[in-house]
Amino acid sequence: MEQVDLPRPGPGQVLVKMDAAPVNPSDLALLAGAYLERSYPFTPGLEGSGVVLAAGKGLLPALRMGKRVACSPPHGGDGTWADYMLTSAMNVAPLPRAVSSEQGAMMLVNPMTAMAFVHLAREGKHRAMVNNAAASSLGKMLIRITGKEGIPLINIVRKEEQVKALKELGAVHVLNSSSESFSGELSRLAKELDATLFLDAVAGSQSSVLLDAAPRGSTLIAYARLSGDPLVTDPGVLMLEEKKIEGFQLGNWFQNKGLLFKLGFLNSVKRLLSFELSSQVSRTYPLEKAGEAIAQYKAFMSEGKILLKIKS
Ligand SMILES: NC(=O)c1ccc[n+]([C@@H]2O[C@H](COP(=O)([O-])OP(=O)(O)OC[C@H]3O[C@@H](n4cnc5c(N)ncnc54)[C@H](OP(=O)(O)O)[C@@H]3O)[C@@H](O)[C@H]2O)c1
Repeated sequence: MEQVDLPRPGPGQVLVKMDAAPVNPSDLALLAGAYLERSYPFTPGLEGSGVVLAAGKGLLPALRMGKRVACSPPHGGDGTWADYMLTSAMNVAPLPRAVSSEQGAMMLVNPMTAMAFVHLAREGKHRAMVNNAAASSLGKMLIRITGKEGIPLINIVRKEEQVKALKELGAVHVLNSSSESFSGELSRLAKELDATLFLDAVAGSQSSVLLDAAPRGSTLIAYARLSGDPLVTDPGVLMLEEKKIEGFQLGNWFQNKGLLFKLGFLNSVKRLLSFELSSQVSRTYPLEKAGEAIAQYKAFMSEGKILLKIKS
């Protein structure tokens, strides 16, 4: 931790007095040098919430002045694990009064991704989906949102206790990848439900199991690398069974959308934040204890988000 001079917002920028910021898997990857190129030292934190304290020149910064916002850092810039963050006014979204700063701090990464996956399912006319690392915050959002939208979802976890926990949350289909019958059960269920969209956060050898079990013509979307390993598959599965692999990164996906779509999409996310797209917080830590917060998060990832609360 170090003290730095308070930056002044330039044209199109705002200065946010930070309130809260979560620890996400992308933060761990960023700190380990495995995600986005950054030179050390830098301030981590890819999302958070706060209040706009100062605005640079421009209409959008002026409109955001004084607002309670969800926020993310500028491309390649310092992040949310700080007392203050300088960012583009495009990277802040005003929070409705009903949304707490805690939930608002976790609005931009997982809720938007869960909604994007539902959008991709509809766009690709997929009847059902499969998601792994399904006891994650994002996985739990997907269970609630696909339940509301009537899209069957096959959830994959790696621990038996998570099967029960997800069923209690309302999940209908939960498979344990550690069980011996896993690949057979996945293949049978995916065929039965016509699940042709496979969301893969794990990669490594699990991608190969998913692609083998996927019905002909399925798409596997690689959206993280929790195993730490490269995605493995037999090219024959892609060539002979017309299966596809695509990558998904929220920033890239959202950036390519038109303004009207973006505004409508953000409003839908905000509307669902209090239940379907809410995140459970397991513990909060002051910013000075970020190291302890990371250790706790790494050991108990499925128990909920760890939130850094920044002193007012
Ligand atoms: N591409 C994008 O734009 C994008 C956007 C949002 C999120 N994501 C990704 O979505 C995933 C979920 O994010 P989150 O914030 O919801 O996570 P989270 O709540 O922190 O939970 C992480 C989950 O990953 C599981 N996990 C960790 N290592 C694993 C492994 N090697 N094999 C199988 N499962 C493993 C954990 O289960 P255990 O209890 O079994 O450890 C836990 O349930 C992350 O990988 C994140 O990077 C990607």
